[in-house]
Amino acid sequence: MDMVSTVAEVRARVHQWKKEGKTIGLVPTMGYLHEGHASLMAQARKENDIVIVSIFVNPTQFGENEDLDAYPRDLEHDRALCSRMGADLIFHPQPEEMYQNACTYVNINNLSDHLCGKSRPIHFRGVCTVVSKLLHIAAPDRAYFGQKDAQQLAIIRKMVEDLNFDVEIVGCPIVREDDGLAKSSRNTYLSATERQAALCLSRAVKAGQAASANTTDASAIKKAMEEVILAEPLAKIDYVEVVDGKTMAPVDTVKPGDLAAMAVFIGKTRLIDNFIIGA
Ligand code: PAF
Repeated sequence: MDMVSTVAEVRARVHQWKKEGKTIGLVPTMGYLHEGHASLMAQARKENDIVIVSIFVNPTQFGENEDLDAYPRDLEHDRALCSRMGADLIFHPQPEEMYQNACTYVNINNLSDHLCGKSRPIHFRGVCTVVSKLLHIAAPDRAYFGQKDAQQLAIIRKMVEDLNFDVEIVGCPIVREDDGLAKSSRNTYLSATERQAALCLSRAVKAGQAASANTTDASAIKKAMEEVILAEPLAKIDYVEVVDGKTMAPVDTVKPGDLAAMAVFIGKTRLIDNFIIGA
């Protein structure tokens, strides 16, 4: 498995693989890889001849007061995991390679007005821009994203549809720690006490799922989730919402495929979790 840092090097290899008739799966990441990323690679490995993993902490998706500089990085660990998972190539560019003199961004309306988009106004513009670039550079048949970032997944699906990208977007289930906490690179920010407190998110998911088995009233589902979070003194709700699974707009009455999602601060760390109604 090789690691390259320029667009030209990726293109040269992709060109050769395509000439040989090989299919390509792309797993875009920001590194500090964990079992959630490993599950994306495993799925990509099953479905494609070639697996490319991009590792790039994308500056354009971080707001001014967010954790760009502090974002955890461990390239040696990431390389070892990619190699173990059978990846063929890592693309690890520097910001200058991706954004030298860039003036063009990909923006998505409506879907980004809700949930995380409310408190992170430029986040999805940065995600759509970098994912568009990665899809152009690696020209994959399939690209893999985790369901934990449910709004990101919905936005990328819509962007790909709207802009006619010739790629299949594959969503993969949330991977959790044994005690329920959804795997995230940001879990590393949590102190031992906060790590315990963070379990309120997965407990809220369970409470929401239990409520949704008995009612289609979105506010009742939301209330069941909020009650669990509010009982945890270290937790502060950013949002708890029940939204349409495609448009991300709030709903009053849920149907299968809608999304119950939350963002919660545990101390200074903002964590997200969600479940799909009826899944
Ligand atoms: O989900 C992530 O890690 C990032 O948002 C992504 C899709 C790699 C774009 O930088």
